[in-house]
Parts: sequence; C-alpha cells; structure tokens
Amino acid sequence: MNALRRVALVAGATFLLVAPGVGDEAPSAQRGAYVFHAGGCYACHTDEKTGGQPLAGGPPLTTPFGTFYATNITPDRDHGIGRWTDAQFLRAMREGIAPDGTHYYPVFPFTSYTKATERDLLDLKAYLSTIPPVPRPDREHEIAFPYSMRITLIPWRWLNFTSGEWQADPARTPAWNRGSYLVEALLHCGECHTPRDWLGGLDRAQWMAGGRIGAGDVVAPNLTPHPNGLADWSAEDIAFSLELGTTPHGDVFGNEMAEVVRGSTSHLSKDDRDAIAEYLKALKPLPSAVVKRP
Ligand code: HEC
Ligand code: HEC
Repeated sequence: MNALRRVALVAGATFLLVAPGVGDEAPSAQRGAYVFHAGGCYACHTDEKTGGQPLAGGPPLTTPFGTFYATNITPDRDHGIGRWTDAQFLRAMREGIAPDGTHYYPVFPFTSYTKATERDLLDLKAYLSTIPPVPRPDREHEIAFPYSMRITLIPWRWLNFTSGEWQADPARTPAWNRGSYLVEALLHCGECHTPRDWLGGLDRAQWMAGGRIGAGDVVAPNLTPHPNGLADWSAEDIAFSLELGTTPHGDVFGNEMAEVVRGSTSHLSKDDRDAIAEYLKALKPLPSAVVKRP
C-alpha cells in the first residue's frame, strides 16, 4: 500500500472515531471524552505529582483500610487494558469484576459506574483506546490483613453493592433526571459527600449529608438544602461553584474538591452543571452527618 493511501485510511478511521453522529450506535471517542471527564478517571489513575503519564497508574489513595493505587488503564497490551474486550470492560465498570474473575476493591467507584448506560461506557472505552499506551506495571496495594485478601470482598459486596443501570423518574423534570444520572452514575459525588458505615458502605439514609474521606481527616460537606448544608446557595450559586471552584462567598475550594472541579465539573456543559444544581436543590434536607474535627 502506498504511503498516501495509508494516510488517507488512517485519517478516515480517525474521522469515524471522532465524527459526531456517524452511526448513532457506534461507540464514539468524542462522546467518550466527555464521559471520561465527568467520571473523574484521570485524577485517580494518573500520578501527576511524580510526573506519571496520563492513566498509567495513580497516586496513593489513603483509606481507613489501607493505601490503594489505581491501575494502568492505558491501551498498553501487557500492563494496561489494551487486550480487554468490550464485555470485560463493561463487567469491570458495572460489576467490579476483573477479567480473571477476581473482585475489585470499592475504592474504584464501580458502585457508582454500575449505574452508567452501556452507551456511555462503550464511548468511554473508545476514548480510552485513543490514549498513548504506557508500559508501566501496576503497584501493589498496601493493605492490612484480612482486607488484603480479595475474598473478603464477597460478603462486602453482598451487603453493600447492587449492580444495575440508573433508572429515570418520570415524575421529575428532564433536568432533574440528567442531574441525578450525572451525580449518581458518573460524577460519584456521593462517594465523598455521603457518610459510610463501619464496613465502608454508603449510608443511603444520609445521602449527601456529608462524609469523611481519605484516612478520615477531610470532610466533604453536607450538600443537602438544609441550614447545615446548601440551604442558602441558589441553584445558580451551585452551578457557578462547579464551574469556577469557588463558593458564593469567594472562598476557593480546597482538598479533593479542587480536583473534582479541575478534572470534571469545569469540563461539563452549562446545561449539565445546571442539571446537577437542580438535583441538589431537590434533595431531602438533612442535618450534617459529620462535623469537622478540631
Ligand atoms: C476514586 C478513585 C478512582 C476513580 C475516580 C476511578 N478509578 Fe479506576 N480504579 C481505582 C482503583 C484503586 C483501582 C484498582 C482496584 C483494585 O485493585 O481492586 C481501579 C481499577 C480500575 C480498572 C480495572 C483495571 C485493571 O487493570 O484490572 C478499570 C478498568 C478502571 N479502574 C477504570 C476507570 C475508569 C474508566 C474511571 C473513570 C470513569 C475510573 N476507573 C475512575 C480507582 C479509581
Ligand atoms: C473526591 C471526593 C469528592 C467528590 C467526588 C466530590 N466532592 Fe464536593 N467536596 C469535597 C471536599 C473535600 C469538599 C470541601 C472542600 C474544601 O475543604 O475546601 C467539597 C466541597 C463541595 C462543595 C462546597 C460545599 C460548601 O459548603 O462549601 C460543593 C457545592 C460540592 N463539594 C459539590 C460537589 C458535587 C456536586 C460533586 C459531584 C459533581 C462533588 N462535590 C464531588 C470532596 C468531593
């Protein structure tokens, strides 16, 4: 094949991957890029501080159970997910089960991603396959016995995990539904802003009433429209804060929230940020579940 023809073919293939609307059912890397930002994959899977390559493996993630390292999810065929089939990817994201049948730890928020649509996940996979492959081996997690044994995840899953796609509520507005889908399935706000029980499961009765993250020293505040929470923030205030990373009083978000805005919410469309705000304003008002330690 002559060089010119090869270039034309490659250009054609690239066009198919990124052109919007080409065969509505075909996975689209361009749509996948949006899902990727919303899902916040980059922050956990990239060790930016030590100069790590995008998605080649993450920084230490501290939890009360030990320290975890998100894996290499570049398309490298040996160290990343380059050999994975669509079915294997869907099973990892929606069931938390690896191609070899072992269970993932819930620091990988498959407990939220299970709610994502198949289309969003396959678009996401199409996008991930456009990232440069990096041959970097995964780092072992540093976790104490018995949690170091993945078998302990079986009872955990039984108590804390229900797989299944997010369901629309026809009694609500389309914007509320979009906000609910983004918050629950892709942006996993609840993984930080909801308290956990002693097994590390989310306490749904206190949904978004505030949670502790990391080793427990950082508080993700109450986001419900309660006086302890966001009662005095308008929907517009919330949407702006997700775009700019500042509170209505002009304070700059710190800790993990700065990263959420930089990596996720600032990349969303204005309509999507407004939808999240509408959803949060309609939450059940709850007093704060956690208070900052002095
Ligand atoms: C809060 C941190 C966090 C976020 C956000 C996150 N991951 Fe992960 N991910 C992890 C950790 C930790 C593991 C390793 C889990 C284990 O070893 O049980 C993992 C594992 C995986 C795996 C399994 C890889 C393998 O080699 O077996 C895939 C696939 C994956 N993540 C994809 C994604 C995608 C896609 C996103 C964004 C939609 C994402 N992750 C967001 C922390 C995260
Ligand atoms: C990785 C954990 C994490 C995730 C995920 C997360 N947040 Fe946060 N959020 C925090 C932390 C920590 C703070 C406190 C920031 C600070 O200390 O400055 C915060 C603060 C906030 C605040 C300011 C509240 C106040 O009273 O000042 C809002 C609003 C907010 N988050 C909304 C969201 C929304 C909406 C999502 C999902 C799109 C989300 N957060 C996802 C950790 C997180």
